[in-house]
Amino acid sequence: MIKIPHIKVKKVNAQGLIKLIKKHFKNKSIFNKKYEVIEKEENLYFPLNPHLNIKKLALKLKEQIPFKIIFIEGKKRLNYKAQSLEEELENKLPDELLELIPQSYDIIGDIVIVELDQYNSINYPKIVKKKIANAIIKVNKNIKSVYEKQSKITGTYRLRKLKYLAGIKKPQTIHKENHCVFKIDLEKVFFSPRLNHERKRISLRNIKKNELIVDLFAGVGAFSIIIAKNHDVNIYAFDINPFAIKLLEKNIKLNNLKGKIIPIKMNVKNLLNSKDKVSDLLKNNVDRVVMNLPEKSLDHIDVVCHISKKTGCILHNYQFSEKPNSVKKAIDKLQTELHKNRWRLDSIKHAKVVKSYSPKSDMIVIDALIIKSNNE
Ligand SMILES: C[S@@+](CC[C@H](N)C(=O)[O-])C[C@H]1O[C@@H](n2cnc3c(N)ncnc32)[C@H](O)[C@@H]1O
Repeated sequence: MIKIPHIKVKKVNAQGLIKLIKKHFKNKSIFNKKYEVIEKEENLYFPLNPHLNIKKLALKLKEQIPFKIIFIEGKKRLNYKAQSLEEELENKLPDELLELIPQSYDIIGDIVIVELDQYNSINYPKIVKKKIANAIIKVNKNIKSVYEKQSKITGTYRLRKLKYLAGIKKPQTIHKENHCVFKIDLEKVFFSPRLNHERKRISLRNIKKNELIVDLFAGVGAFSIIIAKNHDVNIYAFDINPFAIKLLEKNIKLNNLKGKIIPIKMNVKNLLNSKDKVSDLLKNNVDRVVMNLPEKSLDHIDVVCHISKKTGCILHNYQFSEKPNSVKKAIDKLQTELHKNRWRLDSIKHAKVVKSYSPKSDMIVIDALIIKSNNE
């Protein structure tokens, strides 16, 4: 039988006491919501948050309203649902393991992807990880599956190895963001919910009617779909991964688009081949290029220059760039690559750190107007 602290107060004084507590401890959670308030004769017993500094509480309220803090057995609320992962795991993990629980995780549709490497060196990591995964499902009512990150994002298709931990074993899901829906298979295609704000930002740029846009590394259409949802434009969306293109085709149908997306499964380097039909169609014709392949975008500036309108094209370029001064380094590198191809940065519309990618590097975005040098 576990005794927990309660604040004992006469019924007639209870309202006054609660008002006082709220005034003194504005946003702090004072009461233990897992337990009910107990009513006994002329007294009420309010269960207190176990993490509360009881001495401090007593000191603050002293002599204002008579009350006592006592330890008694609590009356558990039926159907109580923990409000956080930490609370759900409170009595299921020892304190030293509780301290390591993840403060955040990625939610994609009804799937959670979580990093739990911090538990690799403990005894029985499998059991602990499964407990955490089950707790994640318990506290998130829309989550059906939990997978653990097993690697960094690697390879041409930019995929991550995942390990199933709990719930339904199904890496396919439907993710909603910015009024768009995306069919995704996390084992076969890249998708990052963390770029959600970036996609929205790009879609809110001054995109004109009938623009010809190229999404060089489209994936399942994360950028293309939100742009075509909001603008009457034509987007050529390329990806080398056949699964990404299949899902992109489905996503085009799922979203009621204003614009048109033409999905093409292809290595974009082939656009440099003048015999290619699409290359011919796009050559120096494109108004806007999105390139979200941060680790290799600079290797594809030749493709950008090949398709961009010579009089000016808006480029949304993502790069990983070394800290410190990562933004300046990324701009310098982009400029160098453009010069090699006899193009130049006319003006930078926006350049910033999107997120810290690793201790040594940032993910950068540069929105810029690029122009063919000397109008050659
Ligand atoms: C980082 S993901 C970005 C996907 C999408 N833009 C998004 O934000 O979700 C990069 C994508 O580029 C594709 N890719 C990599 N190299 C490529 C190439 N040479 N030609 C076409 N697609 C490529 C990968 O298959 C992957 O889907």
